[in-house]
Amino acid sequence: MADTNGHDGKPASAGTPAAGGNGASGSGNGGNGGSKLQAVIAGAKATQTRAIEELKETVKAPEKTDVWKSVLRVKHDETPRSRALGVLSNVFLHLHPAKINRDAVAYNYTWGMGGMTFYVYITLVFTGTLLMFYYHPSKIVAFRDILYLESDVPFGKLLRNMHRWGAHLMVIMVELHMFRVFLTGSYKKPREFNWVVGVLLLVLTLLLSFTGYLLPDDQLGFWAVTVGTNMARATPLLGHAGPFGPQLGMTPFNDVRFGLLGGSIVDANALLRAYIWHCVAIPIIASAFMVVHFWRVRKDGGISGPAPVMLESEIKDVKKI
Ligand code: HEM
Repeated sequence: MADTNGHDGKPASAGTPAAGGNGASGSGNGGNGGSKLQAVIAGAKATQTRAIEELKETVKAPEKTDVWKSVLRVKHDETPRSRALGVLSNVFLHLHPAKINRDAVAYNYTWGMGGMTFYVYITLVFTGTLLMFYYHPSKIVAFRDILYLESDVPFGKLLRNMHRWGAHLMVIMVELHMFRVFLTGSYKKPREFNWVVGVLLLVLTLLLSFTGYLLPDDQLGFWAVTVGTNMARATPLLGHAGPFGPQLGMTPFNDVRFGLLGGSIVDANALLRAYIWHCVAIPIIASAFMVVHFWRVRKDGGISGPAPVMLESEIKDVKKI
């Protein structure tokens, strides 16, 4: 394609007054301007050619670019050392061990329940955050917000049901996970501490379910929380109807039940307290314990597991040697 001045498609040849800037100053100046323009165009062409070449090289070998090297600081050739380094030097990949026992992560051993519990928890945090955009923890509007969400908000019913069913699913999954940990004896040395962390996570999961129950402010939640918190009356030492409670000065107006409800009946204060426990305090505490739980799985030597077995194909390989 012929060189142009970029405006009217005409060649930007030397001597064109327009290229010289001052058309009245004569052909000397115009020629000078033209050659300058040509030099600029030649420079731009060279830059374009270099850019195309660099782009081709980037597509061919992205690992050689500065951007790649700034993100992943090790070479990625197919050697066990480089693969291990790749994992160890990356904060996200480092959360997992560089090598694991294949049999220990088999679904028929773990049932995948711990991991799935965690993914359901993440879904609950996500849907719960969206629900918070539509919900006010106030006796006057809480139930109305739920009706609005169910009938007027686009996908509101889906959102609410994802959260509610997810909560049921999490309780079932956490119990199945605990059952498998028990069946495989994974509570024994050196995993006793992580079992205890797990028990706390189970309690926190149940508390999340219980506090969430009151939030719609419907009859179901109201009576469930009335019955549940009535049990707190009988807490030893801290409940006014529990062993040694009265002797320690507990009354319906200063005992643990009063503290939970923010009053002596299930009312506006109870709703606000349930909301804060459910949406802020318990998720923060549970998330912190989950971090410790996962970290300990790794530090306790990875997931416990059956003794490693060899695949038939591997046995043949060994025989060949
Ligand atoms: C929010 C609840 C929980 C989450 C998200 C969770 C997550 C996990 C995950 C991802 C693992 C890795 C292995 C696997 O998937 O089975 C694991 C292992 C383990 N969990 Fe949990 N867990 C929870 C509750 C519990 C409970 C209730 C217990 C027991 C009381 C428990 C005890 C253990 C133990 C001992 C291990 C190590 C198991 C082994 O090495 O075989 N966890 N957990």
